[in-house]
Amino acid sequence: MARKKRILSGMRPTGKLHLGNLVGALENWVRLQDDYENYHLVADWHTLTTDYEHSRDIPENILEMVMDWLACGIDPEKSPVFVQSHIKQHAELHLIFSMLVTQARLERNPTLKEQVRDLSLETRMSYGHIGYPILQAADILIYKGEFVPVGDDQVPHIELSREIARRFNTVYSPKHPVFPEPEPMLTKFPRFPGVDGNRMSKSLGNTLLISDEPDTIRKNIKTAVTDPQKVRRGDPGHPDICLIFTYQNRFNKEEVPEIRAGCESGALGCVDCKKRCTEKIIEYLEPIHQKRAHYEKHPKEVLEIIEQGDQRARKEAERTMAEVYQAMGM
Ligand code: TRP
Repeated sequence: MARKKRILSGMRPTGKLHLGNLVGALENWVRLQDDYENYHLVADWHTLTTDYEHSRDIPENILEMVMDWLACGIDPEKSPVFVQSHIKQHAELHLIFSMLVTQARLERNPTLKEQVRDLSLETRMSYGHIGYPILQAADILIYKGEFVPVGDDQVPHIELSREIARRFNTVYSPKHPVFPEPEPMLTKFPRFPGVDGNRMSKSLGNTLLISDEPDTIRKNIKTAVTDPQKVRRGDPGHPDICLIFTYQNRFNKEEVPEIRAGCESGALGCVDCKKRCTEKIIEYLEPIHQKRAHYEKHPKEVLEIIEQGDQRARKEAERTMAEVYQAMGM
């Protein structure tokens, strides 16, 4: 049998995940588990780049996020779930890689530039933050990840991982390349809208959480914006610009043709459309909530799953680092 290709998936532990995380990443991870050998990384050191003052929240945020992963169908038997800071070799490889990248190259990274602008970091950008994508390259390459499922904002980081892999191989191991050049695997719904129409994001306060109770979902969708030209039932609407229609497309696929026709003709009002959408989302989340409730009652099980994932990951990381030093003659 051919060897399964290896995927490295990672998320920063931001606590409870939202539907944007689910649709934009997690669902994809779950789908990929059978055909690839998957590694699932909790990138806790990466949160320090922007949030170093809140280090004490990290353990709780890891637990909440991993409970969402497991509830949504990440199977730790197939796919080790592990924590970056538990595998010290990531830091070691990051250090070695950091010598192979110029400062100018890092400063050209568009995703980083965007962050500098959004968070007004112009004069306060830390050394560690500029190196964010080098740490990410270490995360991926220490497991010889060949594919990385990401949204489009992460593509520049993966490109840098490719360059670092190439550079290391050229300098230290031209005959027997130590590292593969990882490729991004783009997700279908990279930008899922929040209830205000902007990209769903915790910092914008427009999220629907995977773990939200049905009544919370009902309340939040009630306040969601729809097509501004459709003021009352009877007005013809434009489903393609409506975020509720995006939700319908994802959570209520069978009824989409009828909903489109009803919206466009005016026969279907926004209130009814929202209600139908809301109930589908709640229905979708029901089995996820049941699973999550189990882990909430048994957090020790989650910690054990992580401990086992750490062990599997650590073995791989140790093996790669031995190859790295061998190649470097150190
Ligand atoms: N930078 C990623 C994000 O913000 C998180 C991440 C860290 C990651 N290390 C990774 C993603 C390795 C994929 C592979 O979403």
